[in-house]
Amino acid sequence: MSEGVTVELPDDPALAYPLLAEQVRAVMVGERDAVANMANAAALLGHHLRRVNWVGFYVVRGRDLVLGPFWGLPACVRIARGRGVCGTAWERGSTVVVPDVHRFADHIACDPASRSEVVVPLRDRGGSVVAVLDCDSPEPDRFGPPEVRLLEEVAADVAAACDWPLP
Ligand code: SME
Repeated sequence: MSEGVTVELPDDPALAYPLLAEQVRAVMVGERDAVANMANAAALLGHHLRRVNWVGFYVVRGRDLVLGPFWGLPACVRIARGRGVCGTAWERGSTVVVPDVHRFADHIACDPASRSEVVVPLRDRGGSVVAVLDCDSPEPDRFGPPEVRLLEEVAADVAAACDWPLP
């Protein structure tokens, strides 16, 4: 796919999500740079997913997650392992879905509009978590099984398409 080109997607998630995952894979062809690939993945997800207000990556840097490429408003820069939804997903090594951020005691509110959230870890070839993909919505309970499947697929594809760790 040429840079700057996005194909608009149908409304039905069952049709749209496989095409969206394919668009993310297409923009990464021939490129192993993690910043570039995370940036295009965040842009595509933010552009195409309905009713989301923030999509982006936090990268593992020592004992912290540090803000990486994203789509949306400026966000908190550093999150300790085990803190917030992002640090919890890193520590557990698995996807965390939060249907109502007001009911997740340690939620870190970057954009006060966010009401639900999902965070998916990215692993390198050795199985270590190298980053997380975070997606926020202004709508409670926005992220069901189709969204989780899509974001886990994109996270795995981005992880596999890039060289880790970042320099
Ligand atoms: N809510 C996240 C922090 C990142 S922002 O949502 C972009 C958390 O609790 O980890």
